[in-house]
Amino acid sequence: MKVTIMAINENSIQATQDKMKAMLGDFISESEIEQKAALVYKINQLKKERKAIILGHNYMEPVLYHTVPDYVGDSLELSRKAAHTEKDVIVFCGVEFMAETAKILSPDKTILVPSTKAGCSLAESITAEDVRQLKKRYPGIPVVTYVNTYADVKAESDYCCTSGNAKQVVEFIDSDRIIFLPDEYLAGNVAAESGKTIIFPEKSANGTLVHPEGLAEYDLIGWRGRCEVHEQFSVRDIKTVRKQYPDVVVLAHPECSPEVVQASDYAASTSKMIDYIKTTDAPYYLLLTESSMAENIVAENPEKNLVRVCDIKCPHMKLITLEETFNSLKYMRYEIEVPEDIRKKAKKAVDRMLEIS
Ligand code: 13P
Ligand code: SF4
Repeated sequence: MKVTIMAINENSIQATQDKMKAMLGDFISESEIEQKAALVYKINQLKKERKAIILGHNYMEPVLYHTVPDYVGDSLELSRKAAHTEKDVIVFCGVEFMAETAKILSPDKTILVPSTKAGCSLAESITAEDVRQLKKRYPGIPVVTYVNTYADVKAESDYCCTSGNAKQVVEFIDSDRIIFLPDEYLAGNVAAESGKTIIFPEKSANGTLVHPEGLAEYDLIGWRGRCEVHEQFSVRDIKTVRKQYPDVVVLAHPECSPEVVQASDYAASTSKMIDYIKTTDAPYYLLLTESSMAENIVAENPEKNLVRVCDIKCPHMKLITLEETFNSLKYMRYEIEVPEDIRKKAKKAVDRMLEIS
């Protein structure tokens, strides 16, 4: 597991501000740094008082990402980190399903998420009842769910997976057919990579599932959930950038459409994309994912040239601010709770994934 240690831990507001200027001064204005330095200092003080740890997802805005998290990473890395920390309080600077996964793995710890509204279009695309309906319609077919789902959906599943291990999990399962939920595009990418066929039941206006003809012929049964960020990238974007920068290396998150992934040079989880850029030497990179991540990479690696296609931010991730992180520690809010029966069932699916990968 590789998670980078971050956090500025200076002994005064002035020292914090100086360090922030040195690290972030090239792309965050001096006035923003001056405004935020006191908050960063206070968060780091409060973190010590509360004996807490802060985990930050790779999509956090630069002024947060580079200043208060003890560890940053992708959703799986951060959940693992949460499971292994000795600290009792974890502030999860990411969206709710990520904090919930940490709680599934670490039930005795206090897991806080700085906003109650930090959802995810994928997690919201499917309910536990939807999964029960699918299992009723396709009895005995194993269910794999992407980590971007809520605990009750994971609890109805046999295996969990992440963007980094989806293909590995699907190929591990000894079954001719698999139900893969809820990301239409991730499922399409796994199918393309592993030579499998895929079909999608549709939801009718009254909420019942409509199953296409010939369904039994297909290897994967998917779901029409999508990430509202990654669905916005197109093959046209890639072509336009390649025309202007012929030697650009294009990296896409597997939540992008299969057409976009096929037109790219590399597809992987957020942390793997960061590692790829850090360890290779292309003249230009195009990163098809949440745009704060490109800003974070450039802050740490000013010599890298990242082409900007457009500024697409995840509205849920952007609810996690320094101000709300401070409030989270100050008021010990908002605590993640998962009913024990659901947690135990969901943990089985997450544990199976961890064993495989
Ligand atoms: P990663 O697990 O690759 O960080 O992805 C999480 C996510 O929400 C991507 O949109
Ligand atoms: Fe969900 Fe997409 Fe935001 Fe990731 S970027 S948290 S998948 S909405």
